[in-house]
Amino acid sequence: MNDRSAFSGFYKKSVDERIEILRKSAGLGEEDLKRLKDGLPIELANIMVENVVGTFQLPLGIATNLRVNGKDYLVPMATEEASVIAAASHAAKLALPEGFRATSTRPVVRGQVQIIGLSDLASPAQRIMSAKEELIEEANRFAGSLPKMGGGVIDLKVKAFEEPRRMLIAEFYVDCRDAMGANAVNTVVEGIAPRLEDLTGGRCLLRILSNLATERVSRSSVVFRRDVIGDEVVDGIIAAYDFAYADPYRAATHNKGIMNGISAVTIATGNDSRAVEAGAHAYAALSGRYLPLSKWWKDGKGNLVGELELPLALGIVGGATKIHPVAQTVLKIIGAKSANELAEVICSVGLAQNFAALRALVSEGIQRGHMRLHSRNVAIMAGAVGAEIERVASTMVAEGNIRVSRAKEILEGLRGSCSEQ
Ligand code: MEV
Repeated sequence: MNDRSAFSGFYKKSVDERIEILRKSAGLGEEDLKRLKDGLPIELANIMVENVVGTFQLPLGIATNLRVNGKDYLVPMATEEASVIAAASHAAKLALPEGFRATSTRPVVRGQVQIIGLSDLASPAQRIMSAKEELIEEANRFAGSLPKMGGGVIDLKVKAFEEPRRMLIAEFYVDCRDAMGANAVNTVVEGIAPRLEDLTGGRCLLRILSNLATERVSRSSVVFRRDVIGDEVVDGIIAAYDFAYADPYRAATHNKGIMNGISAVTIATGNDSRAVEAGAHAYAALSGRYLPLSKWWKDGKGNLVGELELPLALGIVGGATKIHPVAQTVLKIIGAKSANELAEVICSVGLAQNFAALRALVSEGIQRGHMRLHSRNVAIMAGAVGAEIERVASTMVAEGNIRVSRAKEILEGLRGSCSEQ
């Protein structure tokens, strides 16, 4: 996105006007516009999963104003929740001109092989480790094109458990490059398992990747200037963070706010949001205590500093990212050149989302904003169309009474007064 000014007042535009702005800014072609309009064709859905009877759609909106490592992004988000996209856009705007700084590690995911039926653990573990280089080489034969692309199996470790059962866990570390990696990693561990059985005399039971991708971590940080957000918000957000740090009941909700952003972009890009969610929450509990995934503190100038770190196993090639037509256009809009770049954008959206939720919570509360948006849904449920939606919604908000029955009354009043004119 080169011209951010094209997006000012984006939320006030009609859907067609937004699509036109997006088309110009993201260089979309006719095919992309068709994909956004048509969604997932039933024939493709029928190939993707079993027993298909339809498709399920979510609203797709664009988060604006996001700048990460000096580059501006438009970020499509798929979510059923009102306020999420507006909140991310607003938080991203408040972070300008610096925006977010993000980094990520090498995209390494571990695959685990559970070896059972062993009478002792030390000598089979020793045999695996003595054959480490040879096993890595052999495992790479199952890694498809990854080794040629600078990825593939790069390491092997063994863990031993006596409780609750005697077993060895052989862990193969696979650099998945721009793929999420589930297929690649699962193929590697299934392929190498017979060799491990020969070597140890045990039986390989589970052969599967771990979604706790501690080797594939992204970090994003941001500074919100005190003169922009005010000292009260700075102090309030730090106090809110302390609450999440102290109490897992609050930490879960704090992290849910982060995942509102992360999952919405993960879904829009056709990535596996359950894998990301599982990894995130396990990472939050890695210390033995469930903690907030983000940290908030004050710098020497009184500005608010935030940082978010979590595992993000995401792909820009393979799986639904390539099959789902909308996901393809979404990836084009984001324009990330690598899975790591995508992860850095998504991590920054998570941090922006967290800031937005905390800011609302420490000031007006979240219900006012939610209700404003919710009121439009209620107006539609009551039968309002076109300009009626906004008029019915704003009357309900002003009255503080957002119900379908009230929306119907207002609508009848509106229509009655129009027909009298
Ligand atoms: C609602 O979807 C998300 C929040 O509950 C997050 C939070 O409490 O930090 C507002």
